[in-house]
Amino acid sequence: MAGVYESVLALSNSGTVPPDFVRSAQDQPGPNAFRGDSAPPEAPLPVIDMSRPECGALMADAATEWGLFQVVNHGVPAAAVSELQRVGRNFFALPREEKEQHRTGSGSSVYPATGSIEGYGIGITGPRGSSRDLEGKKNWEDYLFHYVAPPTVVNHDIWPKNPAGYREANEEYCRHMQRLTRELFGHLSLGLGLEKDAMSEAFGGDQLVLLQKISYYPPCPQPEVTLGIAPHTDMCAVTVLLPNDVEGLQIFKDGRWHDVKHVPEALIIFMGDQIEILSNGRYKAAKHRVTVNKEKTRMSWPTFVEPPGELVVGPHQQLAAADSPAKYKPKKYKDYQFCKSNLLPQ
Ligand code: OGA
Ligand code: NI
Repeated sequence: MAGVYESVLALSNSGTVPPDFVRSAQDQPGPNAFRGDSAPPEAPLPVIDMSRPECGALMADAATEWGLFQVVNHGVPAAAVSELQRVGRNFFALPREEKEQHRTGSGSSVYPATGSIEGYGIGITGPRGSSRDLEGKKNWEDYLFHYVAPPTVVNHDIWPKNPAGYREANEEYCRHMQRLTRELFGHLSLGLGLEKDAMSEAFGGDQLVLLQKISYYPPCPQPEVTLGIAPHTDMCAVTVLLPNDVEGLQIFKDGRWHDVKHVPEALIIFMGDQIEILSNGRYKAAKHRVTVNKEKTRMSWPTFVEPPGELVVGPHQQLAAADSPAKYKPKKYKDYQFCKSNLLPQ
């Protein structure tokens, strides 16, 4: 239940985290791991009310400037959110042996060269989006990944059977994510001067892939030297992230890390690499990391919204023509994933 292999066997040696979790000096969050009340004033990270008519323009500005924004009045019912969180919390509360039964692939990385990224794991060195660092440091994180859409990629054998209601909660939440994603893509397309459906179509239409993750970051005795997830950008199109109320997510902008504040009932929207590519660099993939906490457990439920692997994604023709030349190579999404996961040039 404690997580990160029962918080590294309760640090039996010395009360310090093992060296494979200790980041190099320049990557350590230091006092910024948990700023608390002494924090300097934050630049206002956009919180956008989706019930307002100007929300689309605000999203386009935020995607250009930050690559990240929070949304409220997003239409995902509170009951669907709390049920998703309940089943996720209860899964991570199971004994380690039971969670271990959901491992797939090599067991040591979500990115074995061939094979599934799905399943349960701990403290990986190569998480999604290639926060893999060359030193091979581990993240202070347990996780579970599984696809939730479309039906052709969903493998229910990987989904937890326990707790009861896990499948229903995830299916229900997924339907809301599909609806919300279409709405976000509509606004973000218009913000680029494209047709409303342009982005949805460019990312696969009905074949759009949704990959659900649960992240579990247990308390850590030395949050200043380690990270829940190392700095990275997500390689998908967009990520819709549901957090619990424990802060820890930070975004890098203008040479420094900014805390993403907890806003009750908000969802956090990240621009991923594919939207940066499609927009020919007008929207920015958000560089982010997760810091951990001495007392509290952070949990988050990111939904990674991706094109199907066989789909070629490149700068949208209309935008590349306007900007000539195109700033990115068109590429099948699965090839992009392979290169990024294996630290190969794109
Ligand atoms: C991720 C990620 C952030 C968080 O899983 O890619 O960046 O707040 N998660 O858990
Ligand atoms: Ni991420």
